[in-house]
Amino acid sequence: MKKILVLFAHPKFEKSRANAALVDKIINKEGVTFHDLYERYPDFNIDVEVEKKLLLEHDIIVWHHPFYWYSCPPLMKQWIDMVLEFGWAYGPNGNALQGKKSLNVITTGGSRAVYCETGTNSFSVNEFLRPFEQTANLCGMLYFPPFAVMGTHKVGKGILDNYANQYDKLLDLLQQNMAVTDVKGFYFLNDIPQLNT
Ligand SMILES: Cc1cc2nc3c(=O)[nH]c(=O)nc-3n(C[C@H](O)[C@H](O)[C@H](O)COP(=O)(O)O)c2cc1C
Repeated sequence: MKKILVLFAHPKFEKSRANAALVDKIINKEGVTFHDLYERYPDFNIDVEVEKKLLLEHDIIVWHHPFYWYSCPPLMKQWIDMVLEFGWAYGPNGNALQGKKSLNVITTGGSRAVYCETGTNSFSVNEFLRPFEQTANLCGMLYFPPFAVMGTHKVGKGILDNYANQYDKLLDLLQQNMAVTDVKGFYFLNDIPQLNT
């Protein structure tokens, strides 16, 4: 079974609805390490050696966060800036993460419909996530399409529970070594048939 590290960043988790539902479902899942960055590093003082060790111990890295200003909350960016060091994660001999898999799990206030060329947000979620995709590429990681809960303000409890069940199933598939090539052509992991049967 592949080992999954969920890096979670939510600056106001105590007020969360969407992420609370997702996290509640997977927090104690076997083979999954749930790592709450704001809880661990409220002062933003990231312990780089601890984080590098965690990365080495896992096969799949999940960047799980609400979408804030078309990106991640600042502590997740800080984590990327501090932990993915030159000569370790990329650059000469920087091959510590080679072959690992990564993906974003996000929640957005905007609906799917507004994230397109003709919508109010002009670009797709996948386009906004390009920095993550290229970060994964640069570090030799294989990057999946995102799993997204969108239009969070209008999504009721029952639907959030469905998303949480999908997230749980998705982690099962990743543990069973699902490949990026298995989901080729999908913009969202939410849409793969295995999560919709
Ligand atoms: C500071 C801030 C910035 C946000 N930026 C965006 C954004 O760029 N796009 C978007 O769709 N929603 C945005 N939102 C809405 C959040 O993504 C949404 O409230 C969150 O995903 C809901 O999850 P939660 O219930 O776990 O907090 C923003 C919210 C805040 C507080």
